Formats: sequence, C-alpha cells, structure tokens
Amino acid sequence: MRRLHVALAVLAAVGIVACGKGGSSNGAAGGSAAATDGKMIQFVTTQDGSPMEIKPELFDTPAAKEFASTGKNPYIGNQEAMERGKKLFQMYSCTQCHGGDAQGQTGPSLHGPDFRYAKDATNKGMFETIWHGTNGGMGAKGKGLMDPTDPTNGLTPDEVLKIQAWVRSHGKTTGNE
Ligand code: HEC
Repeated sequence: MRRLHVALAVLAAVGIVACGKGGSSNGAAGGSAAATDGKMIQFVTTQDGSPMEIKPELFDTPAAKEFASTGKNPYIGNQEAMERGKKLFQMYSCTQCHGGDAQGQTGPSLHGPDFRYAKDATNKGMFETIWHGTNGGMGAKGKGLMDPTDPTNGLTPDEVLKIQAWVRSHGKTTGNE
C-alpha cells in the first residue's frame, strides 16, 4: 500500500512537470496546462481579458485542482471553508473596502446579483478579478502579485476559493451555475 502511494506521488509530480504551459486566448474553457489531471482552463485578466498564467503547482489542494480544470468552486456551501474564507477576508483587509459582510463600503458590495464586472457572477470570473485586480481601485491579491519579489506572499488559489464561498453565501447565486 505504501509503495502504491509513493508510485502515485511520483506520477503526480511527473504530471506537474510535464504539463507546464499552453493555452487558448479566450475566456472559455480549453487548451491550457495541467494541474494534475491533464486539463487546466484558461484564466484571463479582468483588466483586458488577456490570458493570465497561474502556475499549476499553486493549485495544491483537491478543491483547487478541481477548480483549475472545471472553473467550478467546490467549496460553495461548505461551512468550514466559508468560516475560513470569512477570516481570510478580514486578514487580507478586504473588509476595509468592501465592509465586514462584503456589503460594500468604499468598494462595491459583493452580494450580487449585479456586479460591476458581469463575469463576477461566475466563480471563474470573480476568481480572476480577485487574483489580478481591476483598473478601478481593486488591487491584485493573488499569490506573487502583491509583492513580486516574494512569491510566497499573498493568497493561494485555495484561499481565494474559500473567500469566494463565504462571499457567495450572501447572495442568491452560487456562481457555479
Ligand atoms: C483598497 C480597497 C480594496 C481592497 C483592500 C479590496 N478591494 Fe475589492 N474592490 C475595490 C474597488 C474600488 C472595486 C471596484 C473596482 C472597479 O470598479 O474596477 C473592487 C472590486 C472587487 C470585486 C469585483 C466586484 C464587482 O462588482 O465586479 C471583487 C470580487 C472584489 N473587489 C473582491 C475583493 C477581495 C476578495 C478583497 C480582499 C482579498 C478585496 N476585494 C480587497 C476595492 C478594494
């Protein structure tokens, strides 16, 4: 059994190394690299829709891997994830601009169903907005983007998904529709 585990781990590692880059240039699912199962959707920036590369190895939990290949957030409705997401929303000062319940303050409400960026009604779209920011006062919070000299700085994809699960709990849509 142990040997099997080691073998699987090696296979997974080879998969990550082997499938680095690639991609299609539109927002639809397709083309790009593999996290672990051979398929990663193409992320695009909210600023201008240009392709955005996120290192496959940053998708380092089962939920993050699933998201990387489907664009669906598996944490939606997950109580534990939402509690953690709420804490992260505070820790990363999202509250300062969006309010303690994401109801809006100097930044807009995140409750929906109407968003400044229509794509933020989907979890893929909102993830991209949080990860890479906007041109209108929303800074990039993604790992490595807050401080390019320190790649360990910032939120991981898994953490963004947890924040999103909590944010979605305030509205009627799950974003996975
Ligand atoms: C310095 C203030 C500030 C902070 C901190 C901040 N935001 Fe924002 N955020 C904004 C502003 C302003 C906008 C509107 C941007 C625009 O119109 O381009 C925005 C937009 C957004 C949107 C898009 C909303 C829509 O209607 O499409 C999301 C999602 C979002 N922020 C999430 C977050 C999260 C999550 C965090 C913490 C990791 C965060 N923000 C931190 C100011 C902030």
